[in-house]
Amino acid sequence: MASSPFPLLSISLFLLFLLLHQPLFSTTNLHKLRSLRPDFLPQISTPSSNDTPLSPPTHYFETPPSHCLSHPKEFSKIFLEWRAISKGRQYDRIFGVWVGGVELLRSCTAEPIPTGIVWSVEKDIARYYSLRLKNQTLAVYLGNVIDKAHYGIYHVNVTLHFYPPEEENLDSHGGNRENLVPGYNSWADLVLPISRNLPLNDGLWFEIENSTNFVFKELKIPRNVYRAVLEVYVSFHENDEFWYSNVPNEYIDVYSTSFLGNGPFREVLVSLDGDLVGSIWPFTVIYTGGVSPLLWRPISGIGSFSLPSYDIEITPFLGKILDGKTHKIGLNVTNALNVCYIDANLHLWLDKHGVKTEWKILKHVGLPLVVSLVSNFSGFDGTFLRSVSRSIKLTGWVKSSYGNITTNAIQDFYYNKLNSDGRQWK
Ligand SMILES: *[C@@H]1O[C@H](CO)[C@@H](O)[C@H](O)[C@H]1NC(C)=O
Ligand SMILES: *[C@@H]1O[C@H](CO)[C@@H](O)[C@H](O)[C@H]1NC(C)=O
Ligand SMILES: *[C@@H]1O[C@H](CO)[C@@H](O)[C@H](O)[C@H]1NC(C)=O
Ligand SMILES: *[C@@H]1O[C@H](CO)[C@@H](O)[C@H](O)[C@H]1NC(C)=O
Ligand SMILES: *[C@@H]1O[C@H](CO)[C@@H](O)[C@H](O)[C@H]1NC(C)=O
Ligand SMILES: *[C@@H]1O[C@H](CO)[C@@H](O)[C@H](O)[C@H]1NC(C)=O
Repeated sequence: MASSPFPLLSISLFLLFLLLHQPLFSTTNLHKLRSLRPDFLPQISTPSSNDTPLSPPTHYFETPPSHCLSHPKEFSKIFLEWRAISKGRQYDRIFGVWVGGVELLRSCTAEPIPTGIVWSVEKDIARYYSLRLKNQTLAVYLGNVIDKAHYGIYHVNVTLHFYPPEEENLDSHGGNRENLVPGYNSWADLVLPISRNLPLNDGLWFEIENSTNFVFKELKIPRNVYRAVLEVYVSFHENDEFWYSNVPNEYIDVYSTSFLGNGPFREVLVSLDGDLVGSIWPFTVIYTGGVSPLLWRPISGIGSFSLPSYDIEITPFLGKILDGKTHKIGLNVTNALNVCYIDANLHLWLDKHGVKTEWKILKHVGLPLVVSLVSNFSGFDGTFLRSVSRSIKLTGWVKSSYGNITTNAIQDFYYNKLNSDGRQWK
C-alpha cells in the first residue's frame, strides 16, 4: 500500500454491548427456524423460551471531537476499524455502523468461546468522506441477548483512521487525478441516508418481513447534481438466512411444513417515485455461525465480516428528481419470507460551478420479472428447476459545467437453479 503507514488522525469510540432490547433472531423458536444450524457444538445451545432481555439500551452514540470536524480536507484514505473482544458463549449477531444515518458497515460478530476471542474488521470508507465535515452522530446497533445460556458480551472499539494525501496523485476531493472526467470514479460530494429514523434519528435498517412490504424515504436533492448512485445494504435472517436453500411453497403445501418456503430466489427492487430503476440479486453471505461454526475458524465466510453493499446507477434517471421537490426512493424484496434488514445511501455528485443541471431521460425499460418453475416430485423425491430473468435499462444525458454526458445503466440478469431431492434439507 502506497499510503503513509501512520494515520494523520484517529478517533476511537469505546462501546460495550451487554444486551439489546430486540434480539435479531427470534430466540424462542430459533432452533426450528434455522434448519442449517447444527446443535452438536458445545458452545451452542438451544435458547429457552424464558430468554428475557434485562435492560433496553439500543444505540450507542458519540459526537465526533471538534478537532475531527476541523480536520483538513485532503487525505488519501479513511479506514473504519472495528475491534472487539468477547468472552463466553454467544451466537453470531448482525450489527451495523451508521454516521448521520448513513450506513458504513454491516457485519456479523465472530462467535466467542468461553475462554474469549478478539477480532477486528477494517473497511475502506473513503467513499463516505463528505460526512466527516459535519457534526454527525455515530451509531452502532448490535442485537445481543444475554441469558443463562448466552453470556458473551462484546467490548468494542470503533476507530476512524485518516491518512494524509499523497501529493502527486490527488485532486481536491482526494480522488484520483487519472479520471478522464472530473467527478467520475471519485467520491460523492453528498451522501443522504435512506434509513430508519426511529427509535433515534441516527440510522437503523428497515425490516422487511414479506414480499408486500415496501419501505421508502422521501427526500429532496440539490438541483446541481450531475451523478447519483444508490448504495443498498441488505442482510437476510431468520427464515431467510439460508434463502438460497428454501423450497418452493407447493412442495411444502404437499409434504411438510417443516421446510422453509418461497423458493431459492430473492431480489431487491429499487424504485424512484414508483418507477423501477434497479435490481439487486444478493450474494449468499454465510454468517460466522452458519451451517457449522467450525467451518469458519479461522477463516470466515465471504462477506460475513463486511457484507457487500450494492450500487445502482441512477444518473440516467436524474431528470425525475432534479426539480427541487420531494421524491420517494423505495425498496422491496421479491419472495421475502422474513426477515430482511435493508437500508440505502444516496451518493450525489454536485456541480461546484453550476446551480442547475440540464438533463433528459432518453430510455427507461423495466421489464417484469420472468419466472418459470418446472417441478417433478413424488414423495419427498423430486426436482425443481427454477429460471428467473430480469432486465432494466436506463439511458439519459446530464449537462453540467463538466460537460454533457450520456449515461447508460443496464442490468440484465439470468438465474437458473435446480433443486433435487427435498430430503437433503431434512
Ligand atoms: C455538535 O452537535 C452537538 C449536538 O447537536 C452539539 O452539542 C455540539 O456543540 C456540536 N459540535 C460542534 C463542534 O458543532
Ligand atoms: C479499546 O481501547 C482501549 C483504550 O485504548 C483499550 O484499553 C481496550 O483494550 C480496547 N478494547 C478493544 C476491544 O480493543
Ligand atoms: C407483510 O408484513 C407487514 C409488516 O410486517 C404486515 O403488516 C402485513 O400484514 C404482511 N402481509 C402479509 C400478506 O403477510
Ligand atoms: C416492488 O417494487 C417494484 C418497483 O416499484 C414494483 O414494481 C413491485 O410491484 C413491488 N412489489 C410488490 C409486491 O409490491
Ligand atoms: C419425473 O421424475 C421421475 C422419477 O424420477 C422420472 O422417471 C420422470 O422421467 C420425470 N419426468 C420428467 C418430465 O422429468
Ligand atoms: C447533450 O447530448 C445529447 C446526446 O448527444 C444531445 O442530444 C443533447 O442535445 C445535448 N444537450 C445539450 C443541452 O447540449
